[in-house]
Amino acid sequence: MNVEELNKCWSTGHALEFFGKTPEFAAAKMRHSSGAELEVGLYGGQVLSWIVGGRERLFLSQKADFVRGKAIRGGVPIVFPQFGSGTLPAHGFARTSEFFVRQTSVEEGGRVNLTLGLIDSAETRRVWPHNFSLSLLISLGEDLYMELLVENTGAKALEFQSLLHTYFSVPDIRAVRVRGFEGVSFSDFLNGGRESVDNLNDRPITEQTDQLYIDAPDFAAILDEASCPLFQVEKERFGDFVLWNPWIEKSAQMADLSPNDYLKFLCLEAGNVRSKIALSPGESFTSSQRLMVI
Ligand code: BG6
Repeated sequence: MNVEELNKCWSTGHALEFFGKTPEFAAAKMRHSSGAELEVGLYGGQVLSWIVGGRERLFLSQKADFVRGKAIRGGVPIVFPQFGSGTLPAHGFARTSEFFVRQTSVEEGGRVNLTLGLIDSAETRRVWPHNFSLSLLISLGEDLYMELLVENTGAKALEFQSLLHTYFSVPDIRAVRVRGFEGVSFSDFLNGGRESVDNLNDRPITEQTDQLYIDAPDFAAILDEASCPLFQVEKERFGDFVLWNPWIEKSAQMADLSPNDYLKFLCLEAGNVRSKIALSPGESFTSSQRLMVI
């Protein structure tokens, strides 16, 4: 569907309308009465921008590739059905698939809702031989709520990993702290997956970081230098959190990041990574995150 058709079928007016993010990539613009604004691309079902209090709260690389087949660096990429590397493309195929619109609505209380969908196709079955249906609810109020529903629509059991790979925009990575992981076990991907227990109440990020907090509590926060909260994340039925920043050398190897971009974001990613979710035929599973700017 082109932008005109999308608007004809799905626009709710000013609160939700479609536009061309680039000539090739359609996106929805959502507006809440609090002044919050959101952009969601149909490619990857990816949130690309979230404005609260007149300020952008998500990082989107200026060098992000808006090219079909490539992942877009920034916003909230959807990782499904595989986290990281494996037999499928890295982080799965959802982030490089075109989603369709299932529903749009504006609630009485004013929340603006967009539900996107993705179902198996010849292309997905070639790399992952399963029938599935994915629904992604993106709901904008004063907060941003995202809910991922995965259904097994086939005749055989399936297993998947899923994750919301949120790129939070931060004033300077060297000045932020992450709260919520004291006493939580983590696996350090940069150290062969070695497991330890975090002993820091407020964790600073001072180097390349890539760790999986296993069975993490459902609340985490990103704080500023003075330990005042910038963001709160509340997850439900996502077991883990991934904390990632590529720092200087790794980001220098990434063509879709500029040299100082690593200073500008922190990925705090709610996901089911350690324990895969198993679904028998007909079963479904819902998980969600709620992001709040403090
Ligand atoms: C994180 C992983 O979730 O995503 C990292 O833990 C990875 O290992 C990062 O480098 C970015 O992945 P990609 O495929 O978008 O470059």
